[in-house]
Amino acid sequence: MKGKTPVGVLISGSGTNLQALLDACQSEDYPARIAVVISNRPRAYGLERAQEAGIPTAVIPAKNYPDRQRHEQAISALLHEHGVEWVACAGYMRILSAAFVDEWAGRTLNIHPALLPAFPGLDGQGQALTHGVQIAGATVHLVTEGSDTGPIIVQGATGVLPNDTRDSLQERILALEHILYPRALRWAVEGRILPQIDNRVDIQLAENESRYLWHAPTKADGE
Ligand code: GRF
Repeated sequence: MKGKTPVGVLISGSGTNLQALLDACQSEDYPARIAVVISNRPRAYGLERAQEAGIPTAVIPAKNYPDRQRHEQAISALLHEHGVEWVACAGYMRILSAAFVDEWAGRTLNIHPALLPAFPGLDGQGQALTHGVQIAGATVHLVTEGSDTGPIIVQGATGVLPNDTRDSLQERILALEHILYPRALRWAVEGRILPQIDNRVDIQLAENESRYLWHAPTKADGE
């Protein structure tokens, strides 16, 4: 059997999505392994999660570099050092520049807490509540230049409840994210994401797989 594909994960914070990926990678039949976790913030809790799993970590703060390009070159160099083939942004709170995106084109994923193309940028959950949408969710997409604009790979949705707060909605969306991200990363490393025209991708789906996920809120969610 072919070895697992090495993946680098970029984080800035709590790293619950990183944890979902680490957990998925525990399975023998999961085709990826996390080779390195890089944070731009020294206190990101995700670093502890990675260390707990025995994964090499690095802190590369932007302020240690004279400009964005040099900062991203340092990140890229470390990714190469660890033989990384795919990059997964998991709560990485900086926009990647064109140079980085080009270097890792078609090999970088991001997860966003909204049903893109609605509500890109900061606070997708808060934006959903502000706009009174009745269905909210999360998206895994390929990273291209621009904020949260790349081809959509998989989406998960949940109903918005009348008494939802930002926190309660975020919790349900995060639960979706933790299912979606390992699924998308599997498709990525298995070469099943096929770029099409117009910023779209097709996925070679197995019989039991789907590009969407629906979580109907239950009494436990406050329905
Ligand atoms: C998630 O909501 C993700 O969609 C967004 O940032 C958050 C990161 O959460 N990009 P975590 O650090 O994975 O817990």
